[in-house]
Amino acid sequence: MHVPSAPSSPSPDSWWRTAAIYQLYVRSFADGNGDGIGDLAGARAQLPYLAGLGIDAIWFNPWYPSPMADAGYDISDYRSIDPVFGTLADADALIGEAHAHGIKIIIDVVPNHSSDRHRWFIEALAAGPGSAARDRFWFRPGRGTSGELPPNNWQSIFGGPAWTRVTEADGAPGEWYLHLFAPGQPDYNWGSADVRREFEDVLRFWFSRGVDGIRIDSAALLCKDAALPDVSGAEPPGPAHPYTDRDDVHSIYRAWRAVADEYDGRMLIGEVWLPDATRLARYVGPGELHTVFNFPYLNCPWDAAALRQVIDETLALADAPATWVLSNHDVDRVVSRYGRPDTAFSLDRRPYFHALPVDLALGTRRARAAALLTMALPGSVYVYQGEELGLWEVQDIPDELRQDPIWARTLGADPGRDGSRVPLPWSGTEPPFGFSPAGAAAAPWLPQPKEWRDLTVAAESAGYGSMLHLYRAALRLRRFDPEFSGTALTWRRSPAGVLAFDRGGEGGQGRPGAGQSWMDTAGPGSSVRCVANLSAAPVGLPPHAAVLLASGPLDGGLLPPDTTAWLRIE
Ligand code: GLC
Ligand code: CA
Repeated sequence: MHVPSAPSSPSPDSWWRTAAIYQLYVRSFADGNGDGIGDLAGARAQLPYLAGLGIDAIWFNPWYPSPMADAGYDISDYRSIDPVFGTLADADALIGEAHAHGIKIIIDVVPNHSSDRHRWFIEALAAGPGSAARDRFWFRPGRGTSGELPPNNWQSIFGGPAWTRVTEADGAPGEWYLHLFAPGQPDYNWGSADVRREFEDVLRFWFSRGVDGIRIDSAALLCKDAALPDVSGAEPPGPAHPYTDRDDVHSIYRAWRAVADEYDGRMLIGEVWLPDATRLARYVGPGELHTVFNFPYLNCPWDAAALRQVIDETLALADAPATWVLSNHDVDRVVSRYGRPDTAFSLDRRPYFHALPVDLALGTRRARAAALLTMALPGSVYVYQGEELGLWEVQDIPDELRQDPIWARTLGADPGRDGSRVPLPWSGTEPPFGFSPAGAAAAPWLPQPKEWRDLTVAAESAGYGSMLHLYRAALRLRRFDPEFSGTALTWRRSPAGVLAFDRGGEGGQGRPGAGQSWMDTAGPGSSVRCVANLSAAPVGLPPHAAVLLASGPLDGGLLPPDTTAWLRIE
């Protein structure tokens, strides 16, 4: 028998290469003070839960003071905490306590836009046209005889025009300002030296407080063509696009990397949605960001060939350690996606996906299989809160309770993202399911489905075979089994609709496409083989020394459809 050596811990300054990172959406995680909104006190109290889950880091969605025009992605002060969430002292305590649990902290920084209540924007409104204060944003006179038309035809990503007209100090209608998202989110002009200096300083502020990483919101949108030309809608992202993936954005991240490198072991991860892998690759590397989110993987249908292609393309990006992401606060929850007849996803087709029927039992089965597939891949993995409980997308939130600006700005055509942001169920048999303390003054800010009584942390901790047990077991093996520590993945030839690959062992050269039969053993040394059956029929398992973990019951020696197994091969 192969005796594993001591588990290899990644060197401290590259923890982000292999980390399991829990995305904590603070409004919906745990409410400490009973106002129906999650907060830092609630998060602190649940650090032992996260430590027990086996994650290495937490990514906090924005926690700063904000008028909440977009759930905190409209920041009015980048150096403080919203009173609804707590205080800076709470954040300091949380960072310290997380570190004591061995958990790193990543925070969200939003550099594309500000809030219309940010000091700089208020100054800009007061200072008037042509002022230096307005030059930190995109103010322009309107078109038409009296400036009554927006400066160009850009549309907000949340629906409606990307421009809002202001009232000048004299009370007359005046200039317009650009907002690629909601009107409460004015875009910064990254041609302004003030803006560049300010953000480098914000990074230092948080790194100096002990924050280990920064998630960069809307990272490909920062630079605009200063001529602000109309768009046809057909421009691909890249240098010819007036605001997506322009080449000058890279000088910003090179400067940010230099700031991160002033400290030990800090990381930058970019939220970059780009279809072209070569363009995406330009964001990562020694002089730029450490990693980017893998959205092609998230958007991929539950289909073996399509997943295999995304995995290969991801691993082929030599300078970019892979990240694996199944869901986040902007997309439909994975259980619902995989329970639909079309298992793909894309942000701009949400109404289409929401019109499809959902088979929750099938979606849950596939989400379990997907979790084991994902956690077997080399790289870092993101777990969006509630994914570990198997929560589904809540598609029947009453219209009058919907909060996402997408809903209002599309006049209800797009339901928006509230369904993935419903507060977590912790315990008990009825709402608020322990999300808020007993006797809370307010109900959770979005209503929880009553069926979630079966999906609380307490219920799943008790019930063997729950999603939570699966996540705990998988995260533990992924962390402690030495076969998972390297970067190598060796594909095994497998029946149609089945994905099979080895981690560790002698066979692992990291060469996608190495074509050994999946019935082969791995040669000298042991390895872990991940076999995911996405076909409609059971398949036989290859010879193995042990089944380490399976996403569902095995049928004798057979792996049923929509099931993944981790096998020890010797
Ligand atoms: C990112 C965030 C999203 C937010 C948008 C605008 O896509 O993930 O939640 O609405 O940026 O800041
Ligand atoms: Ca609260």
